[in-house]
Amino acid sequence: MTPRPARVRSPDPRAPSAAERFFATCPRGLEAALADELTALGLGGVEVVPGGVAFAGDAAAGRRANLWSRIASRILWQVGSGRYRTEDDVYRHVHALPWRDWFDVDRTLRVQVSAVDSPLRSLEFITLRIKDAICDRFRVEIGKRPSIDTAQPDVRVHAFFSAREVVLYLDTSGEALFKRGWRGHAAEAPLRENLAAGLLRLTGWTPDTPLLDPMCGAGTLVIEAAQIALGRAPGAGRRFGFERLNGFDADAWKVERAQALVPVDPATRMPLVVVGRDIDAQAVAAARENARAAGVDAVVTFECADVLAADPPAPGGVLLTNPPYGVRLGDTRALQALYPRLGDQLKQRYAGWRAFFFSGDPELAKCIGLKTSRRTPLFNGALECRLYEYRMVAGSARPRATAPAGEASAPAAADGVAGAHRATPAVAPVDAPPGALPRSETPR
Ligand SMILES: C[S@@+](CC[C@H](N)C(=O)[O-])C[C@H]1O[C@@H](n2cnc3c(N)ncnc32)[C@H](O)[C@@H]1O
Repeated sequence: MTPRPARVRSPDPRAPSAAERFFATCPRGLEAALADELTALGLGGVEVVPGGVAFAGDAAAGRRANLWSRIASRILWQVGSGRYRTEDDVYRHVHALPWRDWFDVDRTLRVQVSAVDSPLRSLEFITLRIKDAICDRFRVEIGKRPSIDTAQPDVRVHAFFSAREVVLYLDTSGEALFKRGWRGHAAEAPLRENLAAGLLRLTGWTPDTPLLDPMCGAGTLVIEAAQIALGRAPGAGRRFGFERLNGFDADAWKVERAQALVPVDPATRMPLVVVGRDIDAQAVAAARENARAAGVDAVVTFECADVLAADPPAPGGVLLTNPPYGVRLGDTRALQALYPRLGDQLKQRYAGWRAFFFSGDPELAKCIGLKTSRRTPLFNGALECRLYEYRMVAGSARPRATAPAGEASAPAAADGVAGAHRATPAVAPVDAPPGALPRSETPR
């Protein structure tokens, strides 16, 4: 996360006022998609930053982002910032802020720190110094200090260090926003819900188009798609950090939440074709349970099926899936055998579909035997991944060519429109966290 530098100022006491700055964090690579989403939510001052999106507004804006953003991981309220060189400078900045205005001494506290290019020697040590500065400020004022709880704190303070500046945030989300409250049953390697929502947005899928996840695991993509189609607020079933901050407007929140919970009239709803399949019966059972908990079981279909054998559920649509890959699931040889067969299946049966594979396994693109029309770099946690798009058109089935190392094997016409999409830029050029993610990729 690299928030933009901010002025040294603290907001009006208690709740965020009209001019406050917020920072919405998200998985790397989804910043532009998140900015579009926050703009569509009517939030102002939206600005893309690597690792998230800055926006401006009052307490209601912060609540709105928490309740309605499907892509954000957290909504952080910027409460202070300052230049620093040493740990003592940081202590002074933190101690100068009116923490007692924002939360009660009886609340438990956790401090989290992240840094890019910081000269500080130990992030653990500076975390302790920030915690000390907050607690000392309370003790000076009222002779008592908040307790620390690193597991389930009432209040989370985040500090972000760039080379010369520290920015301090109160976390208005509490638990990360991808914890929607419906996931009770996990299959192997489930996607985070906000990453799933972001992938759906990157595909351009809309509810009037059939959607298939043929390797759905616990059903995350399918359930997120159904929630989008039904216009359900992703945060309607959970609590938020802002509820534990001073100045929380419980009356306004009651109204906002009630509006988000208004059930969609089934008569106004279009018929949905949103289908999840998996070869593993236990995964399908977990997906069904999760859909029930999310209240979307009536509008989605889950089936136990082998992607290599089943026919598509409609003549055309969007196929989006997160196939097994070497880092967490499966073994490399088995996957190297699966991917070409997946490519053959697409060519033979999925004319009329746009297919998207989200994977951290570079072998997928090498072995699948299709030409990508677009590949978008993204991070799944710390894992560098790609969203590969393949456009399938009628008459695309051809005998497989042998893949040269490191390249897709299909001839240009094998999946139809590769040429037409060569000029499409990656959707969200991204900066890498320490390690490296290409800023953008030329489609191949
Ligand atoms: C990485 S997981 C998908 C996780 C899912 N996106 C989620 O959020 O829970 C890959 C899934 O592919 C399924 N799978 C593997 N081979 C398959 C096949 N031939 N047909 C259908 N599903 C398959 C596995 O059972 C596994 O659940």
